[in-house]
Amino acid sequence: MRIDIISVMPELLDSPFAHSIMKRAQEKGLLTVNVHNLRDYGLGRHKQLDDYQYGGGAGMVMMCEPLANCILDLQKEVTYDEIIFLTPDGKRLNQSMSNRLSMYKNLLFICGHYKGIDERIREEFVTMEISIGDFVLSGGELAAAVVVDSIGRLLPGVLGDETSALFDSFQDDLLAPPVYTRPETYRGRTVPPILLSGHTRKIEEWRMEQAEKRTMERRPDLLED
Ligand code: ADE
Repeated sequence: MRIDIISVMPELLDSPFAHSIMKRAQEKGLLTVNVHNLRDYGLGRHKQLDDYQYGGGAGMVMMCEPLANCILDLQKEVTYDEIIFLTPDGKRLNQSMSNRLSMYKNLLFICGHYKGIDERIREEFVTMEISIGDFVLSGGELAAAVVVDSIGRLLPGVLGDETSALFDSFQDDLLAPPVYTRPETYRGRTVPPILLSGHTRKIEEWRMEQAEKRTMERRPDLLED
């Protein structure tokens, strides 16, 4: 999969893809992440990217031309399956959205800053708008990192154990069950005996029960859907 990200703060995205699973995905050639500095498309001597909003009010708006020129340049090379704008008023990210996105070949992410981007860019180019939750970040970069991470780990061959993403929380609309490792007793708390029994089918049943219980207690909304 190829992912392009347009950002005014590309440095913010140096670290999220340089470690652990995202790093491995790229080393294995399963994922390419290209971060493009929007400043390269800024207007005039000052490489201007934003301007006052029509109608007045506080906060600058990212202008059409730099974004459009950057997108059009990229589209000379790539046909995108989705052009995604990260924004708090987008559709809320969930696992099924990440699953769907992980099946595409080329994705473009646009990170907003300031008061947002000119609405006409959304109308003209953006095909999907994603929010990572009901709170406002200072820019779209951290949101893009979250979305790309959630997609990248789903690409076939990325995770060491091919099946392990299948058992993540949310994959079956359930939260994951509790997990334990050594020691068997910690501060007087012992590992549930069933997990030491070696009885695979019973362990699976226990995990399913625990997942349901946890979901019921913490996220009953998932069961309603
Ligand atoms: N940009 C600012 N806040 C955001 C959010 N919650 N989700 C996605 N993009 C954002």
